[in-house]
Amino acid sequence: AIPAPLDTLGRPLRDLRLSVIEACNFRCPYCMPADRVPDDHGLDAASRLSFDEIETLVRGFVRLGVSKLRLTGGEPLLRKRLPELVARLSAIDGLADIALTTNGALLARHAQALRDAGLRRITVSLDALDASVFRAMSGDRGEVAEVLAGIAAAQAAGFAPIKLNCVVERGLNEDQVLPLVEYARAHGHVQRFIEYMDVGTCNGWRRERVVPSAELRDRIHARWPLRPLDPQYRGEVASRYAFVDGGGEVGFVSSVSAPFCGDCHRARVSADGMLYTCLFAGEGQALRPALAGGAEALAECVAGVWSRRGDRYSELRSEAGVSRKKVEMFLVGG
Ligand code: GTP
Ligand code: 5AD
Ligand code: SF4
Ligand code: SF4
Repeated sequence: AIPAPLDTLGRPLRDLRLSVIEACNFRCPYCMPADRVPDDHGLDAASRLSFDEIETLVRGFVRLGVSKLRLTGGEPLLRKRLPELVARLSAIDGLADIALTTNGALLARHAQALRDAGLRRITVSLDALDASVFRAMSGDRGEVAEVLAGIAAAQAAGFAPIKLNCVVERGLNEDQVLPLVEYARAHGHVQRFIEYMDVGTCNGWRRERVVPSAELRDRIHARWPLRPLDPQYRGEVASRYAFVDGGGEVGFVSSVSAPFCGDCHRARVSADGMLYTCLFAGEGQALRPALAGGAEALAECVAGVWSRRGDRYSELRSEAGVSRKKVEMFLVGG
């Protein structure tokens, strides 16, 4: 057996975020702007890891101490036969938690099959409730009614609570914050707000467009008083608050105003099997060659990369770093 690796800052590897497809049916301007990412962008199906490869890969990560897996994209529901993959991964001993992040447009069609396959947690991206604001935030591709139907279908299939992620961009969807909180409270979902980040190279990020979480928290608190909650585990990404009236909780992911690299336990793998040790990594490590040797060989390769890791981009962020080479968000799924 290979000992669980620590990186150069003493951080263990606990979570794997695995992209199952690089394509997306949306073109959110903060992630995949339509004028920069053509419709036919993407790999041919053969360049993507097969289900056999993915299963071996996940088994390799589990040997190193990973117990939490999140499936991402692009849009993961575009990957054919995803429930079959979920069923195979659910059967892996040592994997305590499998979650999925989706834009929800195709969720109504797939929620029950995913549930039956063993998926237990779903996070849906939802940037607005207003149909035209939503449309704009999806790059003119999405219908909010479809996404709401997807969320309802997931709830009916037994997913609870469902997390809703909203990226807030100054001047675009700020006015959606209170309506989203109201909606989440009414339906028993957990609403989270994410600071707009300088991920990738094509979203034209500007610091003035970031709405700091503290500002949103104050606005929400003025309407529905909040009290802070303790983290559920070390290195939790969102800072959480409970509604004092018992109406659930809300979370804030503040990677710009309050970076959380100190406890970052996350590795990311793209659909073609590249390992990235940070959301803002410039280079990845190809895992396919090691994967060909099985789970043990894969684990050895990953342990080597992890033990050399020193990433803490969000803590170092400077205007200079903003323009350096970075992996695109839609390749590593957030
Ligand atoms: P659970 O705790 O498993 O429910 O999920 P999570 O809190 O990790 O949340 P989720 O996967 O929904 O992540 C929310 C968003 O936070 C992502 O879409 C990213 O935008 C951002 N995020 C997640 N992990 C990181 C990270 O390691 N670094 C940075 N900078 N942002 C992250
Ligand atoms: N800033 C913050 N979050 C982003 N996401 C994608 N691009 C960005 C960005 N520029 C996240 C959102 C979305 C998930 C799939 O990726 O949380 O819900
Ligand atoms: Fe697609 Fe998600 Fe990126 Fe939007 S944020 S373009 S839904 S991958
Ligand atoms: Fe982890 Fe990189 Fe995000 Fe820091 S910026 S929390 S190191 S993924």
